Amino acid sequence: NFEENQDQKRLVGEKAAEYIKDGMTVGLGSGSTVYWTLRKLGEMIQQGIKVSGIPSSKRTEGWANEFGIPLIDFKDVDYLDIAIDGADEVDTNLNLSKGGGGSLLREKLVDDYARKLIIVVDQSKMVNELGRFSLPVEIVPFGWEVTAERIAKLGCVPKLRMNENEIFITNNGNYIVDCQFKSIPNPAELHNQLKLLLGVVETGLFINMTDVVIVGGDNGIRVIEK
Ligand code: A5P
Repeated sequence: NFEENQDQKRLVGEKAAEYIKDGMTVGLGSGSTVYWTLRKLGEMIQQGIKVSGIPSSKRTEGWANEFGIPLIDFKDVDYLDIAIDGADEVDTNLNLSKGGGGSLLREKLVDDYARKLIIVVDQSKMVNELGRFSLPVEIVPFGWEVTAERIAKLGCVPKLRMNENEIFITNNGNYIVDCQFKSIPNPAELHNQLKLLLGVVETGLFINMTDVVIVGGDNGIRVIEK
């Protein structure tokens, strides 16, 4: 999805960088929108502001190195001041569906560690109800077929994510099943039900975490505050 809506992604990605101030620690999200935030942050660092960040994927770590963003680890700080991340869907309560890029677990660990979470998306991802986008669920490889069957009983068709002819492996060595529910009217309940299943590591539902959404549309940027 790197080519789609590039102009809007760039606009919101760079806008989000304005929230980063000198001295802050930053959660560095994943995806092609956050790419623009990272690029901008690299420029800001060259101009003299001091920030450091925790990356939420190996790909983001690579970009941070490329753009000269100093990296820290969880053990170095008690919290992050801010995290900036993308999403695959945002509902009217600012709950999210994430993990299209496969980094949902690290993203959730990083985003949760931040005092403020800013989400950057283009207009196409704003929905009334989550679920049109297949929900990514990270599961343990051992016995994955049985875990997928348990997930299916919650009312979806889980599909093991592939990378061409190979099974897709997350940054944590796990598998992902993309779960097509008809709709997700109660994301918190579904998240809890999934988390209780043996073999499930984490879901792509980010409930009650978002503070600000920056949305790019044909008529420019819209900022939604919780
Ligand atoms: C990665 O696992 C996802 O949660 C991304 O944050 C999401 O897919 C957004 O990506 P884009 O900004 O590339 O659309």
